[in-house]
Amino acid sequence: MERLTSRPWGGQKADLYDRIGRTYATTRRPDLRIAGAIWAALGDAHTVLNVGAGAGNYEPPDRTLTALEPSEVMIAQRPPRAAPVVLGRAEELPFDNDAFDAVMAVLSDHHWTDRDRGLRELSRVARRRVVLFNANPGEADLFWLTTEYLPEFLELIPSRYQTPGAWEQELQTVLGDIVITPVPVPHDCTDGFYGAYWRRPEAYLDPTVRAGISVFAQLSSRAVDRAIDALRADLETGRWHERHRELLRTDELHLGYYVITAEPTSQTGGRT
Ligand SMILES: C[S@@+](CC[C@H](N)C(=O)[O-])C[C@H]1O[C@@H](n2cnc3c(N)ncnc32)[C@H](O)[C@@H]1O
Repeated sequence: MERLTSRPWGGQKADLYDRIGRTYATTRRPDLRIAGAIWAALGDAHTVLNVGAGAGNYEPPDRTLTALEPSEVMIAQRPPRAAPVVLGRAEELPFDNDAFDAVMAVLSDHHWTDRDRGLRELSRVARRRVVLFNANPGEADLFWLTTEYLPEFLELIPSRYQTPGAWEQELQTVLGDIVITPVPVPHDCTDGFYGAYWRRPEAYLDPTVRAGISVFAQLSSRAVDRAIDALRADLETGRWHERHRELLRTDELHLGYYVITAEPTSQTGGRT
């Protein structure tokens, strides 16, 4: 697999998903329990903009939705009846101030080239609410895959997030007061993101599963191969099951994923 030099949480290359997104819809299907948490956060918003909309996952069916996405490869995977999509980037939203009741961005903001600018844009075009779903990079060490097999992932995370509360503070600085709600990952999560298979470790051995997870594309093939070989060996010998027996009796796990809700005011965002 081709390796990329760009990094998440700023400085990401804008065409990342044109390069890694070709099989996204194969393993990334919206999980209805996570969808429920996102949709509840949208409240009674009628018009909604989905930024970094990808193939259309988590778009609520009962609102008037507009999608925005920079990758043609991802847009091509939107179902025929998905909401209308505008080609564009979070950092420069082609919409007026207060154009939508709510703006949502799911598993996207860590990919933006300029995250603060993107968040200010979300705040500017949202009349009532901004809703994000994403993982706190400061909690990346909650996941056994990272700590035991792929510690190189921690090196991708900017050091500022090692300070407890730094990620939340960064969001608050741009969005104003936020409500932050943990969203545990169900053991049978249908959206194959990085943490989705915490109770199904064999899944990470599958190259198709890994192709739907950007973390693997951003690490060296040497680090990924070594991690997968070690995991395969531990699954064969039963060592993984010995170490993680308690996980097999757990139905959902906190891995640092959250819904973040903000209510923009004229003091937040980039309104002029
Ligand atoms: C992990 S995917 C999530 C897609 C979708 N929201 C979902 O939940 O399935 C990340 C998405 O963010 C998009 N993205 C990357 N950079 C972006 C930017 N600067 N502005 C908006 N979206 C961006 C990618 O093209 C990709 O579709």
